[in-house]
Amino acid sequence: MHILLMCLLSLHALSGVFWAGSTFALTHSFCELTPKLFRAQMTAAALTVAAGLALWGVALRGASGPMATTLAIGATCAIAAAAVQGAMRRSPVVAQRIAAILLSVTVICMVISPYVS
Ligand code: HEM
Repeated sequence: MHILLMCLLSLHALSGVFWAGSTFALTHSFCELTPKLFRAQMTAAALTVAAGLALWGVALRGASGPMATTLAIGATCAIAAAAVQGAMRRSPVVAQRIAAILLSVTVICMVISPYVS
């Protein structure tokens, strides 16, 4: 069980770092990488969400309380960020900026979740 948890957490964090990091990097201005990275960003988003949902099942096992609520707020912002990036392809810089704000909330929620009480 510990091995599964460690593998899921590693996959979750790695794909999340790529997704959030590339989003932050693309907020500055439109460049040739913006359309080229779209598919990689969406793949990273899908992996992050899938591993996050699996972690929810394995680590939380239906638990509720402040930690679960904090994670749920972060997860909702992450899903909203993916939706914005997918839906606003005609305004990619604006989409990346909105997604960057949402993913910032996600990362904060994820890392503070074990300490909220
Ligand atoms: C739908 C989206 C997401 C879901 C359902 C989700 C779910 C979770 C869950 C359940 C945990 C706790 C694991 C545990 O207690 O061992 C966790 C931890 C974590 N998540 Fe997410 N997550 C999502 C999105 C993201 C994103 C987008 C990022 C980064 C950009 C991220 C980064 C992290 C990190 C760094 C941790 C480790 C926190 C720590 O233990 O200090 N997550 N996530």
